[in-house]
Amino acid sequence: MAVVAVVGAQWGDEGKGHIVDILAARAQTVIRYGGGNNAGHTVVNRHGTFKLHMVPAGIFEPSTLNIVGNGTVIDPKHFLGELDGLTARGIAVDNVRISDRAHVIMPYHAMQDRFDEELKGDAKIGTTGRGIGPAYADKMARIGIRVADLRDPVLFRERLTAVLAIKNRLLTTYYNAEPIDFDTIYREYVAYGQRLAPYIADVYPDVQHALEANQSILLEGAQGVLLDIDHGTYPFVTSSQPGIAGASQGAGIAPSEIDHVMGVFKAYATRVGSGPFPSEVDGAAADALRQMGKPWAEVGTTTGRLRRVGWFDAVAARYATRLNGIDRLAITKLDVLDEVAEIAICVGYRHNGQLINHPPSQPEIYAEVEPVYEVMPGWLSPTQHVRTWADLPANAQAYVNRLSELCGAQVSMVSVGPGHDQIIEVLPIL
Ligand code: GDP
Ligand code: IMO
Ligand code: MG
Repeated sequence: MAVVAVVGAQWGDEGKGHIVDILAARAQTVIRYGGGNNAGHTVVNRHGTFKLHMVPAGIFEPSTLNIVGNGTVIDPKHFLGELDGLTARGIAVDNVRISDRAHVIMPYHAMQDRFDEELKGDAKIGTTGRGIGPAYADKMARIGIRVADLRDPVLFRERLTAVLAIKNRLLTTYYNAEPIDFDTIYREYVAYGQRLAPYIADVYPDVQHALEANQSILLEGAQGVLLDIDHGTYPFVTSSQPGIAGASQGAGIAPSEIDHVMGVFKAYATRVGSGPFPSEVDGAAADALRQMGKPWAEVGTTTGRLRRVGWFDAVAARYATRLNGIDRLAITKLDVLDEVAEIAICVGYRHNGQLINHPPSQPEIYAEVEPVYEVMPGWLSPTQHVRTWADLPANAQAYVNRLSELCGAQVSMVSVGPGHDQIIEVLPIL
């Protein structure tokens, strides 16, 4: 019985959904602790292939309680669509709870997100356009609407009146856009609140019960720690805290209750959107990593954008591990390297002739660093069928061991395909 945080440790899309789906069978509660429907978590299991955006990946285990925590931002229309989509495919969703403290993404948030990106021009972040940044900004500015407000039409009228006065002034005078009609949005969101009501709860008692009953609890991360608002490649980041601090705050679990931090790393690296990426590659190397045409091709789950690809960045990985207290690694997509003859690992950065061993805080400097590579021989044989460490080719074992050594944490799982059983458990965490 343990509390395990499953944290994306690169720039997102590491395979968190896959890992949580596997571990959920051994947990009683799964809590998604941050982000919104900018996330896209792919799960491939006996029920089929699913792209989850907000619903925790424990949803396929009927006995598991799936909590959407206070640290998330929720687009109610999108969320209801996701619940309907799951129901239509025979997946029961009555084991979902939404924290009434979570914040609501409103239509003006997506408008602000889009307008801000347009205004930034070439300096745009390349957001998912889902209104994530503006929703978190309003939470901090204390003008957010919370899920609890949606459930109560009288309270919601009061809150929306106050917020729309600010937003409509902003839309008309700053963005030169049309104001939002109060009645239309009020009616629409009251209806969402009514449909979501069976799922909305103050989840504090549920979480405390799970802890007191010594349950196994998974904290499901979204995004990745290099997109963290404080420790990521600011301003090319998301607006939440994808790491362990966000897990504690966004799930409502004291840091001291968390037993293990599982960092999920791809065996190489990808990034969607703008921002520094020293180990990025193009040409034939990129084609090999991108795997176009395959179901796991490096194409964004949420926006369909082509992901940027590169070699494993051990400098960034070590930073992510240290900052987040990562004590276990899940290395995913090892099979993608099956046909690569020489695999590079970025083990240092060089800037103006100086060696740097951690990511610089300024993106302008970070964008200028040159990667220092170490090259390891590939294994040039298929691994998707492998289920035990002993059956992995020696060069694959050596590669994974080197990643573990560079990160400074033990490997728990190695994933060799997107399927539920395509996993090698080296050191079971639950
Ligand atoms: P998440 O956002 O971290 O949950 O990751 P995504 O779902 O956005 O992206 C991961 C992609 O890789 C999905 O298409 C998964 O089905 C796929 N995937 C996960 N693990 C593996 C693996 O070990 N091998 C391969 N080939 N694909 C994987
Ligand atoms: P999962 O949970 C990969 C990126 C966007 C953009 C930046 C800011 O599937 O790993 P935002 O819309 O959040 O304001 O965009 O963050 N981004 C992700 N990249 N995976 C994700 O989630 C992401 N969520 C946001 O591409 O660069
Ligand atoms: Mg994803």
